Amino acid sequence: MKRLAILGASGHGKVVAEIAELNGWDVVFFDDAFPSVNGLAHWPVIGTTEDLLNDLQRFDGCFVAIGNNRIRLDKQTMLTEKGATLPVLIHPLAVISRYANVQAGCVVMAGAVVNPFALVQQACIVNTASTIDHDCILAEGVHISPGANLAGGVSVGACSWIGIGASVKQCVQIGANVVVGAGAAVVSDIADNLTVVGVPARALDSFFSDGASRCARDAE
Ligand SMILES: CC(C)(COP(=O)(O)OP(=O)(O)OC[C@H]1O[C@@H](n2cnc3c(N)ncnc32)[C@H](O)[C@@H]1OP(=O)(O)O)[C@@H](O)C(=O)NCCC(=O)NCCS
Repeated sequence: MKRLAILGASGHGKVVAEIAELNGWDVVFFDDAFPSVNGLAHWPVIGTTEDLLNDLQRFDGCFVAIGNNRIRLDKQTMLTEKGATLPVLIHPLAVISRYANVQAGCVVMAGAVVNPFALVQQACIVNTASTIDHDCILAEGVHISPGANLAGGVSVGACSWIGIGASVKQCVQIGANVVVGAGAAVVSDIADNLTVVGVPARALDSFFSDGASRCARDAE
């Protein structure tokens, strides 16, 4: 059986591990909280990132299951530079167009749909029952949360996080390091580094009258 090392023993890691098993991988975890964290449900946690790097040759693949978009992307870049192979993990009940391009280290979860000519760059999470319509471009390290829907031709910048149940109108361009709040409707372009909420989505700082900074980038 192919051996997969998953970095990041978390709730997200559990979902990734099951998808990996459904794709024929034998899974063990690594986490920097080892040895205080030494197991995750029925999967063993056997070391830290450093231990994994010292033992890379024992594994047929590595996968980073860390919710924080920037940390996930940085760890994946480091593993790739060290020569690790990062597979794409696709749940058998996800639908990926033959014309879509889903790159290394991405996970596509149950019920998700990725339509023709979508480009999903490395280290993205396409979470449960989310949809990525035709011609969308997700830059590296993006997370599309459960039930979020991107209409055709949407672009999402690196490390941005589209919250649970959010909707994005066709051809909208979302910048890098953006957080789109749960349930938001994005109907116009969003600049880099903003958190937006509501219907229609507006920046949190302008949404509330006190103007306080409420940005929760990388909140996971
Ligand atoms: C947008 C978000 C990141 C803001 O988080 P935060 O900075 O910690 O903000 P807070 O929870 O302190 O809320 C600040 C204010 O914004 C409001 N708010 C927060 N999220 C909101 C949302 N999605 N829509 C509308 N208003 C929202 C809160 O009600 C609060 O208002 P108040 O000051 O009048 O009480 C977060 O609420 C969110 O929506 N995260 C997405 C969660 C998600 O998708 N999880 C899936 C994981 S797989």
